[in-house]
Amino acid sequence: MIDKQKEVLTPLFSKEMIEKRIRELSSDINLNFADKNPIFIGVLNGGFIFLSDLIREMKIECELDFIKINSYDGKKSTGQVENIIYNTTNIENRHLIIVEDIIDTGFTINFLLNYFKIRKPASISIVTLLHKPKSLKINLTIDYIGFEISPSFVVGYGLDYNQKFRNLDSIYILKTLRKKNN
Ligand code: IMP
Ligand code: MG
Repeated sequence: MIDKQKEVLTPLFSKEMIEKRIRELSSDINLNFADKNPIFIGVLNGGFIFLSDLIREMKIECELDFIKINSYDGKKSTGQVENIIYNTTNIENRHLIIVEDIIDTGFTINFLLNYFKIRKPASISIVTLLHKPKSLKINLTIDYIGFEISPSFVVGYGLDYNQKFRNLDSIYILKTLRKKNN
């Protein structure tokens, strides 16, 4: 007997809804960072699609960088950030905008804030496409939030479940059901 999982996707945010919200967020960022030449730091892997759409809405002078980390195992936040890959750009006195796909417990972003703070930037702002306020386990001010959602697990538009579903252009709630095959 093989125990398999059936994955059920329910639409949450369409491609059009995401595009519209990114345009709104971008116009705020364009205003607030005019003449500041910020560095957008994308958090890989999940944030890559959001960042690529967001950066193309920027009308101001800005730069781009990435940090790669890992803190999730399946659907559970491990609270432990692992495998940091960052090519130490000089960020002293620069305005940083950390770009996340989703903030859940807040442990990852908290780790990143501490990681960058000691490198003495002029400021650090956070932009996240999604936020699960009910799951947040730390005190945190998030500067720009695309959508607040319930604590369900979501996939698509860069977000994965065990590396799957990143390619979907919309965001879905994922339910995993046990399926028994004889
Ligand atoms: P946190 O440290 O618990 O805030 O989780 C942050 C990271 O976990 C995010 O950057 C995502 O990569 C991942 N994550 C959290 N919730 C979800 C989800 O619902 N779907 C996919 N990835 C998630
Ligand atoms: Mg992430």
